[in-house]
Amino acid sequence: MIIRDATQADLLGILSIYNEVIINTTAVYAHDQVTLADRTSWLEGHQSQGFPVFVAVEGDEVLGFASYGEWRHSGAGYKLTVEHSVHVKAGLRATGIGRQLMQRLILAAQTAGLRVMIGAIDAANDASIKFHEQLGFKSVAHFHEVGFKFNRWLDLVFMQRIIEGR
Ligand SMILES: CC(C)(COP(=O)(O)OP(=O)(O)OC[C@H]1O[C@@H](n2cnc3c(N)ncnc32)[C@H](O)[C@@H]1OP(=O)(O)O)[C@@H](O)C(=O)NCCC(=O)NCCS
Repeated sequence: MIIRDATQADLLGILSIYNEVIINTTAVYAHDQVTLADRTSWLEGHQSQGFPVFVAVEGDEVLGFASYGEWRHSGAGYKLTVEHSVHVKAGLRATGIGRQLMQRLILAAQTAGLRVMIGAIDAANDASIKFHEQLGFKSVAHFHEVGFKFNRWLDLVFMQRIIEGR
C-alpha cells in the first residue's frame, strides 16, 4: 500500500467509499449518496485552493482517503486552521490505513505552516474518537442535537490538535 496525492482516476474509488459511509453510518450527516460530478468538483476545489487530498492505494484500488479544507469561511484570521476528514473502505478498517493517511495529512499541515487541525466527529463514533485521541487530538466542544439522520438527533464533537511547525 502507498499513500499519494489523489488524481481524477481515484474518484470512483473515493466515491464508493464515501457513499458507503453516507448510507450506513453517521460519520457524515449527508442523507443522500453523492455523484461522481460532486466528488470531481470537491477534488478540483481542494486542488485549486492548494489543499491536499491523499489516497491510500494498492495497485488501482483506493483503500481510503483523507483531506483538509477551510474550517470557517469568515475571514483571514482563520486561515491557519483547517478541518479534515478521513475515511477507510469498509472491511479494511482497524488495520492501520487511517493512521497512515492521517500521519501524511498532519505532515502536510506542518509543512504548510498551519496551526490547528479540527475533526468534526459524531459523538457516538467511538472508533473515530479513539482514533483521533491516539493521533494527539483532544475533544474541545460537544454540540447537542445539531444533526439529524436515521430518524434521530445527533451530537457532534470537535476534536483539535495544535500543529507544531517543521
Ligand atoms: C475512523 C477511521 C477513519 C479510522 O481509520 P482506521 O484505518 O480504521 O484506523 P486504524 O486502523 O489506523 O487505527 C488507529 C487507532 O485508532 C483506534 N481505532 C481504530 N478503529 C477503532 C475501533 N473500531 N475501535 C476502537 N478504536 C479504534 C485505535 O486506537 C487504533 O490504534 P491500535 O490499532 O493501535 O489500537 C475508519 O475506521 C473509518 O473510515 N470509519 C468509518 C468512517 C468514519 O468514521 N470516518 C471518520 C469520520 S470523523
